[in-house]
Amino acid sequence: MTIQDLSQRRPPQAELDPSKIAFGKMFAPNMFVCEYREGQWQNPRLEPLANFNLHPAAIVLHYAQAIFEGLKAFRQADGSIALFRPEKNAQRFHDSAVRMCMPPVPEELFLAAVSELTRIHEDHVPREPGSLYLRPVLIGTEACIGVRASSEYLFYALALPSGAYFPEAKNGLGSVDVLISESVVRAAPGGTGNVKAAANYAVTLKIISDAKHQNCAQVLFLDVSPEHRVEEMGGMNIMFVENGTLMTPPINSTTLPGVVRDSILVLAQDLGIPTREFAYPAAELFAKLKSGAITESFACGTAATITGIAHLLTERGEKFALPAPGPVSEKLYKHLTGVQYGRVPDLHGWRRTVVEAHSLV
Ligand code: COI
Repeated sequence: MTIQDLSQRRPPQAELDPSKIAFGKMFAPNMFVCEYREGQWQNPRLEPLANFNLHPAAIVLHYAQAIFEGLKAFRQADGSIALFRPEKNAQRFHDSAVRMCMPPVPEELFLAAVSELTRIHEDHVPREPGSLYLRPVLIGTEACIGVRASSEYLFYALALPSGAYFPEAKNGLGSVDVLISESVVRAAPGGTGNVKAAANYAVTLKIISDAKHQNCAQVLFLDVSPEHRVEEMGGMNIMFVENGTLMTPPINSTTLPGVVRDSILVLAQDLGIPTREFAYPAAELFAKLKSGAITESFACGTAATITGIAHLLTERGEKFALPAPGPVSEKLYKHLTGVQYGRVPDLHGWRRTVVEAHSLV
């Protein structure tokens, strides 16, 4: 399928200094758009970023039939630009669409959309530690108040020059405080916790906002099992270090299969760091934080990369301190960003070059 290029090229309107870009607010001037009608993907195109004309009864606005992805393009050490594991995002976008009763976007269309969107914005990709964050979205657009799947969809993608997700990590790894949610859950078995449904994020907003009053930048959710096992955070996965072993909850029906999570598990093995997929029951987590058996913890995700966790707080007012950033987190951060920015060999074929090296640096 050919993508029509109706984009208007213009240089960045503001300085692309990664330490000064607030995440999620600076947009590249063009977007990718494609409609689904009468059972077909139609008219894929790049065009100037503009508001959509959406019927007030569009199904997405009433019943949250919406999914999204997040992936990044990195300016490489040799001046080329590469996407990091976009095939994994294409696969997850497919799985999210199936779960939300939406027509899956073919992998070739997804990959062409994010590659072309990056290519036309090559001058909007900030230098390290920045990147171009890509946000593919799929929404149900049919005007219908009946509770059923839409027959029409909009697949679009935005590009955002980005620095750090957490301002606390603007110069690299950094660290944040995290509130452990004991009153709010984000997902339950049989729900949508293992796909990237927009509604998963809506239900976390209240407690994330409350957490900010305790100076916590994020919230860690526990699952609904009687043991209240550690699950994930509001938009990223979590890892711990215990006895030198990297621990992270396994992927199940309530945990999102994070691309960076998966990458870190593979890279840890490459580096000789033992890994174990295990979800601590809350009581065990608290005991191990108290005794010092857990020596490090960090958030990981496309937006967050690896961000150290300095304190874990409970809603009951307990506070556990951790050395952050810790040595294992630092080692993994250096290696992961080395692969993303092309400083270390790409042993697993994760970089997809979309702009070859040339004079633009
Ligand atoms: C990402 O890491 O790309 C995410 O989707 C998390 C978030 C910003 C919601």
